[in-house]
Amino acid sequence: MSQAPREEWGSRLGFVLAAVGSAVGLGNIWRFSYLSAEHGGAAFVVLYLAITVVIALPILLAELVVGRGSGRSPIAALRHYGGRAWAPLGGLCVCAGFVILAYYSVIAGWTLRFTVEAISHGFDEGAATRWSEIRTGWPAVGWHLAFMGITIWIVLGGIRAGIERAALLLMPLLFAVVCGIAIYAATLTGSGAGYSYFLDVDLNQIWSLEVFAAAASQAFFSLSLGMGAMLTYASYLSRESRLEEESLLISVSDFGVAFISGLMVFPLIFALGLSAEVGESTLGALFVTLPTAFAEMQATGRVIGVLFFGALAVAALTSAISLLEVVVASAIDQLAWSRRRAVWIAGTLAAAIGILPALDLGALDWMDKLAGNVLLIAGGLALAVFVGWVMRDPISELRPGGESPPWLLAWLWLLRIPVPLVLAAVLYQALRALF
Ligand code: PHE
Repeated sequence: MSQAPREEWGSRLGFVLAAVGSAVGLGNIWRFSYLSAEHGGAAFVVLYLAITVVIALPILLAELVVGRGSGRSPIAALRHYGGRAWAPLGGLCVCAGFVILAYYSVIAGWTLRFTVEAISHGFDEGAATRWSEIRTGWPAVGWHLAFMGITIWIVLGGIRAGIERAALLLMPLLFAVVCGIAIYAATLTGSGAGYSYFLDVDLNQIWSLEVFAAAASQAFFSLSLGMGAMLTYASYLSRESRLEEESLLISVSDFGVAFISGLMVFPLIFALGLSAEVGESTLGALFVTLPTAFAEMQATGRVIGVLFFGALAVAALTSAISLLEVVVASAIDQLAWSRRRAVWIAGTLAAAIGILPALDLGALDWMDKLAGNVLLIAGGLALAVFVGWVMRDPISELRPGGESPPWLLAWLWLLRIPVPLVLAAVLYQALRALF
């Protein structure tokens, strides 16, 4: 194992933006708003928030504690605190990283293609036919490879010069575009129906294990939990960082962007009278309904459309970077590879796996369900048990030499009992649905 001095983030802001960059991704813009609209509107949003605070936030903090304390990637970090028996859990993180990165890059490739084509010749009316032509096949493979190439290029630069610099540059841009489009959408006549579609309360919807499991999986996916991404990023932090504040900042920003995305997508669609098409599928809405709306809005639509798909591609990029970094950091720590070698080999492997979902939408859907609903939840469950029961003194790892206020005891208690119980139920539901 290499014991070379580890790179560190250049600044606190750099770390927070990189972690928010990992969290804010396709999950926020593509998935969250649809889940809410489908499952009870504002009632779902409240359920989602509750799960984020009680289940996801404790796990996020746990990942940050294990990462910073060990200064290692998942496999080595878990072995550091728990001995050999826990190393396979780190292996599960690496596998999840590969699976998610592979299909995530395919979807990101579509957004890249939409951005580039919108710049070069705008949107056309036949969005539905166009979409059915381009979503799979070798051109989709090509765009997936292009996206993976950009990801590889940034991760090659390392923590400060690659990942941190990209986050400092791209994240403020992304926030500005998402807020800007949401504000613009609010000025359109007829946008009101979009807000009610997104947020109208339907209390009957949220009382089922299915919806609960969907909200929990979404919270995990959205915060990049359960596969060691946050753990790995935290391993490049210095001892002085205040993890409880960072974890709050990350979750608030992640939720904020998800919520504002809903305020951007639906008002646009409804203002243009395209509500009939909205219910069909989440991907369809993103890649068919919105392009149709942009086409109808002509010149303005082209500008908004370029910004919208550009923002999606950027959000996907900063998430893909963190996925690749988990695998790369593990190869560096476990195999003593150079960063260069680890990035090229891991990136090429993930790119190769991604060819399958690029050619077969069924495979993409299955990988998404396997990763999002099963692997991440299983990873989170194991991590809660690990920090709650196995690690010797997580509280003093969080606050070296400090006192332990009651909320810290509450954090540990949550990790010990409620979080594992709830995640076990969610995992049971996910396995039942998958097989
Ligand atoms: N959080 C990202 C999103 O919402 C996806 C992701 C999951 C990234 C797991 C890294 C790890 O799109």
